[in-house]
Amino acid sequence: MLPRRQEVGIKRPGGGRSSSVINFRTTVSSGSVRRSSAVLPSLLTFLVIVASGGLLLMIEKGLLNGMETPPPRGSSGRRLELLRREDGRHSPAAEDVDSQIIQEIRNRTIRTVCSQKNMPHNIWTLSPLQRKTLLQHVLVNDKHRFLYCYVPKVACSNWKRVLKVLSGALESVDVNVKMDHRSDLLFLSALKPDEIRYRLEHYFKFMFVREPMERLLSAYRNKFGEIESYQRKYGVEIVKRYRKGRAKDASVTGDDVTFAEFVRYLLDEDVERMNEHWMPIYNLCQPCAVSYDFIGSYEQLHSDSEFVLQRIGAPPSVHFPERQTWYKPVTTETLHYYLCSLPQKLLRELLPKYILDFSLFTYPLPNTTTQHCRH
Ligand SMILES: *[C@@H]1O[C@H](CO)[C@@H](O)[C@H](O)[C@H]1NC(C)=O
Ligand SMILES: *[C@@H]1O[C@H](CO)[C@@H](O)[C@H](O)[C@H]1NC(C)=O
Repeated sequence: MLPRRQEVGIKRPGGGRSSSVINFRTTVSSGSVRRSSAVLPSLLTFLVIVASGGLLLMIEKGLLNGMETPPPRGSSGRRLELLRREDGRHSPAAEDVDSQIIQEIRNRTIRTVCSQKNMPHNIWTLSPLQRKTLLQHVLVNDKHRFLYCYVPKVACSNWKRVLKVLSGALESVDVNVKMDHRSDLLFLSALKPDEIRYRLEHYFKFMFVREPMERLLSAYRNKFGEIESYQRKYGVEIVKRYRKGRAKDASVTGDDVTFAEFVRYLLDEDVERMNEHWMPIYNLCQPCAVSYDFIGSYEQLHSDSEFVLQRIGAPPSVHFPERQTWYKPVTTETLHYYLCSLPQKLLRELLPKYILDFSLFTYPLPNTTTQHCRH
């Protein structure tokens, strides 16, 4: 497997941050030379975009200090009930306000970044590969007129369950069957251009996001810790490539890939051709080419999901499933442990690959300073 890179071998990790960004940029536009498909026109613009995202965040946070939170625009139902921050401290009420603020900031950041000239403004200006990936990740429900872009490791199995219940293919979200990720689901990629266009224009479009490193870690722990097919398909190759003296070792089973090895592998991968479990959310759902009506957070999974269910007019009997009992969540402590165990240099090269996920969905970059990691 991993056919693309066999002849390339291990890229020298000496390039640091800039080489990763440039790699990201050139691979983004390599599929097509049309101007409109070049997502990231130049390193400079790119950095300005990221900076403006961060700036927006600070301005918003700053402006909101000691002020009444402005009422949300265009929201209906649940979200109108706004709780005000009495003081600066964190309380359950403050968390609700934070969620509101995050929605607003996310919305504005996406609008600002996506309005840049060289960002894609609709799906037809994407390269064929980008469009194919996107269309394969958008699920359609015609009865309730919505589109859901699924992101692996962001509760997508549970959402697929909900879709199957809504289309009548499954009796209830709690039916104890193994999730089949293909059958009984309609993907946008199965439709004709006119049908796609109509739905993109008229349907309610939503997606869910998650802290990028937490999602990566979740993918790593699940796929390399538990799934034998991934160990065979990716693990063997990763160990051979990145572990000293194992390049020709036939006994490698790929069941003990370390997180650092996994990260080295990610650094050498083209974001547009990655496996969907670690492909950046940006590339899966193209939030600039598709104007999503709602972007929920894994961190607010239940309330955000219930909001969507209400918004799409799901029958009251349909609710969002509880977390599976076998599910081992990634805790802050676990993430802290893994990120702090990584060589600083690897992490500094990794973050730029996921920078659009951090900046568009307004997740702060992880703090991996030595002082912070000591705790
Ligand atoms: C952003 O805000 C606009 C205007 O209020 C709204 O129509 C749109 O649905 C929002 N998008 C997201 C992703 O929240
Ligand atoms: C990172 O954490 C350290 C120690 O907890 C703190 O002093 C520092 O201000 C933090 N840096 C950022 C950028 O948040």
